[in-house]
Amino acid sequence: MVSLNASSRAAELRRVIARHDRLYYEEAAPEISDREYDTLLRELRDLEEAHPELRTADSPTQRVGGKPLEEFRQVPHRVPMQSLDNTYSLAEADAFLARVEKLLPEVTLRWTIEPKIDGVALSITYRDGFLEQASTRGDGTVGDDVTQNIRTIRAIPLKLEAAAPQLLEIRGEVYLPKKKFVALNASREADDEPLFANPRNAAAGSLKLLDPAIVASRGLSAVFYGLGAAEGSGVPETQAALLHWLKTLGLPVIPHFWEASSGAEVRVAIEALDKIRHDFAFETDGAVIKLDSFRRRDQVGSTSKFPRWAMAYKYEPERARTRLNAITVQVGRTGTLTPVAELEPVLLAGSRVARATLHNEEEIARKDIRIGDYVFVEKAGEVIPAIVGVDTSARTGDELIFQMPDACPSCNSPVFHDPEIVAIRCINPDCPAQIRRRLEHFAARGAMDIDGLGEAMVDQLVSAELVRTLADIYTLDAAAVAALERMGKKSTANLLAGIEASKQRPLWRLLFALGIPHVGATAARKLAVKFVTLDQLAAASLEELQQTEDVGEIMAHAIRDFFHLPHNRQLLEALRHQRLNFGEHDEKSSASISQTLAGQTWVITGTLSRPRDEIAESIRAHGGTVSGSVSKKTSYVLAGEEAGSKLEKARSLGIPIVDEVTLHKMFRASIA
Ligand code: IVH
Repeated sequence: MVSLNASSRAAELRRVIARHDRLYYEEAAPEISDREYDTLLRELRDLEEAHPELRTADSPTQRVGGKPLEEFRQVPHRVPMQSLDNTYSLAEADAFLARVEKLLPEVTLRWTIEPKIDGVALSITYRDGFLEQASTRGDGTVGDDVTQNIRTIRAIPLKLEAAAPQLLEIRGEVYLPKKKFVALNASREADDEPLFANPRNAAAGSLKLLDPAIVASRGLSAVFYGLGAAEGSGVPETQAALLHWLKTLGLPVIPHFWEASSGAEVRVAIEALDKIRHDFAFETDGAVIKLDSFRRRDQVGSTSKFPRWAMAYKYEPERARTRLNAITVQVGRTGTLTPVAELEPVLLAGSRVARATLHNEEEIARKDIRIGDYVFVEKAGEVIPAIVGVDTSARTGDELIFQMPDACPSCNSPVFHDPEIVAIRCINPDCPAQIRRRLEHFAARGAMDIDGLGEAMVDQLVSAELVRTLADIYTLDAAAVAALERMGKKSTANLLAGIEASKQRPLWRLLFALGIPHVGATAARKLAVKFVTLDQLAAASLEELQQTEDVGEIMAHAIRDFFHLPHNRQLLEALRHQRLNFGEHDEKSSASISQTLAGQTWVITGTLSRPRDEIAESIRAHGGTVSGSVSKKTSYVLAGEEAGSKLEKARSLGIPIVDEVTLHKMFRASIA
């Protein structure tokens, strides 16, 4: 029986959470911390687990509900999704205004001017106020059904906040906020995954993912600006009214728009937008000029491609001219050499630019970029600076043609051309630059998580030659560390304690930390669950590797190659000697052999000594399954401190409740 209390509390939580989503994403004025938000969400999740009948389609717990899809379903648009005619010329924008004025001569026309969001077009349908379907533009008539992915976007309400027509189809843009884009690329770089060229590509790539759980982790957002179909009353009749109305429904709308009734006013608005657009969370590449009145829009109609009532004025990408002082060569974690332009610092689109990637030698040759040249720099999208051309008129003849070095700039060993990835590589495993990058990755948060071992510390250790391989950090001499710059007794002790603690990290973290090309954190987890010990993974065949979820051919080869290289074998032996967790002493190994918990379904609740997913992994590795909710089928409930509704339910169903100590005894029983 659901008590009235539980049901009204759940409803209240849903309302409160939706309000905080709105405050956070739309108003950019959060009132509570992330932690407080998570506490509310957890309370709701626990309530719904105890009383599944309280779970509603618009519950914020249901944002990531679905399983990965095989492919996207195709859905027709009720109203076609057209694109806009565009121009870079103000004279052409004037001509557009004049064209429409000629079609509607008897009245003074009102215009709205809005930012043109550089995102991915989206059509989204609410039925009776509930989010029903979301689709991409596709060919304009039929698009991909991306509802599952769109539900993960917290800025998009699952239920509208005010009364709305029975059916409401609205149009807008999905985007990856600029800050999230920078963070996403940084983490992809750390995982040795290809980078996205700009936020739009990252948003498009994220929307195409079939697994909504990964989409949720990307942090997409959205803004709406248009109407598709609407059945029912109360629909506004002008663009300005539409934008206000969408906001009252709880939808994120463009942060600012202008109204104008003459060409001069339109120009003022275009300039005003240009001044503030870099402050928006999304990228903009222009201003959209629209006829305000929907009735007049119908009067002027469309051509086969574009509406006649709107046009996009595109801003010239901001460009700066500066001197290319030098080209340096960076060495990555896997030894790839990348040329980097060292520029005379310039201000570009609101930030100072002093470096730009040049990708590879071919690109430099193709653009004929020489050291000492004056070059033009633009931001690809608005974020990553790129050299787009050379001011050849400024050449003096003293400019130098760049050549990639034959030797590694860090260790001086000969470099190797890797034809597979069109790259030049240093293959010396002892190269100090690679060691720096590898060690930074090894110690990083998502990997071995060693406190105090950041970029500056790594630099000192490698420069002082205290560390040559990853294993060397485990034999560091305290006195030698304490003698380094800015290191006292206390910070030395903290660092060494952090290093010691890392020996206990679960196997998946070690696998990720080793920096095997293409193996990110997710794949590392899957590999650890499947192979249980490092030795079994090292001995696995290509076929066995590829049978692991998320592991494709390229990754399987990379893993096999990694374990075949003699210096990696040496490294692993040294780490084994230091008693890092290779999985042998992990609960997982014995269990996967003995299957002690086979056939048992476990539910984990309350605060425990380790993260829940780690404990769940251990249970699975012992042959058990882990479920999120207590039912008659549950075999055991593992309860930590402050366990709430799940514990109550287990008690009421008479399900055995165990603590962590008992669980570990059960694990050990399997070893005996
Ligand atoms: S109105 C009939 N307004 O730009 C088409 N579009 O290049 C009406 N876009 O297809 C579109 N910001 O995906 C409109 N404020 C805005 C926009 C916008 C971005 C996109 C939209 C459109 C594309 C055209």
